[in-house]
Amino acid sequence: MASKDTSDQATKLVGREKASANFDLTSDVLASKLHDQIVGKTVLITGVSPTGLGAHAAAVIAEHSPKLLILASRRLSAITPVIDSIVASVSQPPRIVPLELDLASQSSVRKAAAELLKLTPVVDVLINNAGVMMLQDYATTPEGVEMHLAINHVGHFLFTNLIMSALLGSPQPRVINITSAAYFGSPIRFDDLNLRYGKDYEPFVAYAQSKTANLLFSLGLVRKLGAKGLLSFGVDPGGVAGTGINRAIPMSDQIKRGWRLEDGSPNPAIPWKTPAQSVASYIMAAFDPDIKDHNGETIAAGIFDEGVAPHAKDPEDADKLWTVSEKLVGQEFAY
Ligand SMILES: NC(=O)c1ccc[n+]([C@@H]2O[C@H](COP(=O)([O-])OP(=O)(O)OC[C@H]3O[C@@H](n4cnc5c(N)ncnc54)[C@H](OP(=O)(O)O)[C@@H]3O)[C@@H](O)[C@H]2O)c1
Repeated sequence: MASKDTSDQATKLVGREKASANFDLTSDVLASKLHDQIVGKTVLITGVSPTGLGAHAAAVIAEHSPKLLILASRRLSAITPVIDSIVASVSQPPRIVPLELDLASQSSVRKAAAELLKLTPVVDVLINNAGVMMLQDYATTPEGVEMHLAINHVGHFLFTNLIMSALLGSPQPRVINITSAAYFGSPIRFDDLNLRYGKDYEPFVAYAQSKTANLLFSLGLVRKLGAKGLLSFGVDPGGVAGTGINRAIPMSDQIKRGWRLEDGSPNPAIPWKTPAQSVASYIMAAFDPDIKDHNGETIAAGIFDEGVAPHAKDPEDADKLWTVSEKLVGQEFAY
């Protein structure tokens, strides 16, 4: 059952979404405008399954002749239909390579990174999109990391750093970290990363902490690598009904939180975005040549979000999270 705190939080999120939504911008229109920036690029997207935002981003980018599209996710069986659909719909499909990557397993991440480095010496754009939300049962990875933090942040932290040589092989590398407005719900609990090992486990807080980590990771990347030309942005996709992200959340809880009506349909009071509206921010972050001055900032609904909460933009917390993440993966990454 949702606690009062998290229900209030959900209400705030709806209000914030209303304030920031820009429904005019769509991924296809923006990608057409930025066509010249996409041509010839090598782009890697994590978390690609048929109904998800990662698959939508892949399909839009594929229309504009990237050199190589690498689609990484935990199930090859989910990536294959996405590739088939792109090949069937794009007149001149680019080369698309699937990559098996289970972000919950550091050994899988290391294996995938090694495969990637064999595949290509250059990655121009990395979109860290994979995620899980509000897993109902408390769980940790084999390395003992709380599951949301592990999949949504630590796995991406490790993968990104392991392929950094390929990113730095690009004249203008970009790393995009997909967050959620849910990040408002929790700072990084530096003294309690594992959420009291599940005592009084609150799934929303687990998701929120991991989504704060996504924003601090962008900031941390800029602090470590901005001087080497790396750009990194957080992207808040907004609410998009119909993807797989809510699958762990019981319908009764989604209704209680005001996300769904009694019949299970998306609550029209929430300014849901279509995937095309949502992924416009991915395209902007990944390819817009005129946003370098905003390095490290967060894009929501196609604009830079000036209302990012202090706990998600504190440079000291970004550095602290970097060090903590290094400990969690047992490897230091100094640049
Ligand atoms: N949709 C929204 O309303 C919304 C709102 C705010 C933020 N977001 C964010 O947007 C991103 C994309 O979400 P979505 O809505 O497109 O949801 P989705 O359809 O569930 O996509 C998430 C993807 O992550 C993959 N994934 C999950 N666990 C993984 C793991 N251990 N290793 C590798 N890949 C894994 C999933 O694979 P499987 O299919 O195998 O599970 C899936 O491909 C997420 O970061 C989410 O937090 C979404």
